[in-house]
Amino acid sequence: MTQPKILITRLIPSRGLDLIREHFPIFDISSHDLPPTREQLLEKVRGVDGLLCLLTEKMDAELMDAAGPQLRVISSMSVGVDHVDVAAATARGIPIGNTPGVLTDATADMAFALLFASARRVVEGEKYIRAGLWKTWHPQLLLGADFVGATLGIVGFGRIGQAVAKRAQGFDMRVIFHDPNAEPVYGANPVDLDTLLHESDFVSLHVPLTKDTKHLVNAGFLAKMKPNAILVNTARGGVVDQAVLYDALRSKRIFAAALDVTDPEPLPMDSPLLELENCLIVPHLGSASHRSRDMMSLLAAQNLIAGLQRARLPNCVNPEVYK
Ligand code: DGY
Repeated sequence: MTQPKILITRLIPSRGLDLIREHFPIFDISSHDLPPTREQLLEKVRGVDGLLCLLTEKMDAELMDAAGPQLRVISSMSVGVDHVDVAAATARGIPIGNTPGVLTDATADMAFALLFASARRVVEGEKYIRAGLWKTWHPQLLLGADFVGATLGIVGFGRIGQAVAKRAQGFDMRVIFHDPNAEPVYGANPVDLDTLLHESDFVSLHVPLTKDTKHLVNAGFLAKMKPNAILVNTARGGVVDQAVLYDALRSKRIFAAALDVTDPEPLPMDSPLLELENCLIVPHLGSASHRSRDMMSLLAAQNLIAGLQRARLPNCVNPEVYK
């Protein structure tokens, strides 16, 4: 086989890069920390056979056409593929690879980290000390929520939602979930969305971003939550309407929110959410553990290599291209 033309849009962990190098020693890879601009990307994709991207790059019809008809595979180092126009890829016969499974535990851990930090006001406590406000132990200082016996509502009960339920068992929480396509596991009981919102002390989001889940968390959703409730989002920023979330947090309609993901990313520094003490925000760190990121790079490399070799991708989001 002649050496295919490969573009890797960002620097990825060496686990994946080394595997690619073993099969295809020459590839174009960005050495910059920041994603390429759209113009740079449209220029760089011209004539490529294989493309490995991150969730920071939009893979749409325009980009696929700029690459050309020889494009054999788009491999994303992510499980979510809302940045990829999968229908456009399928129409062009291009398989899309993703990296499921290997970030399940890390993301569930992050959901719990946010849940704990919000409920027990860890960041507020830390800021309190640094502001020089700690004068004495106080029986009413920064009181937060209890876990034992509390109800955790999980919206979207796929791999990550289930891993969150598994962790909640260890804290003696009652777990309910809403997902018409999932079976109960780890003692979690299925309920309709309204019941989940009315009964949950914690609501954790685990749905992919699609046209159906865009702004799933809207004014109506927040109005049904308990006033003591905490909302945790480790899914995608677009699942939450941030303007209405701001109003709900500011008016104390709900107790707090903890967001690993925002819309857009990065969140602009003038976002009103940043003014709120009861909104904890971290920069999309759900899968940011050493093992997860190594494994994501490996799976992305395997998908890229398979696509270039015209073999079936080990993890393909549009298997209908093989029909
Ligand atoms: C993914 O892979 O979709 C995650 O959001 C990355 O953390």
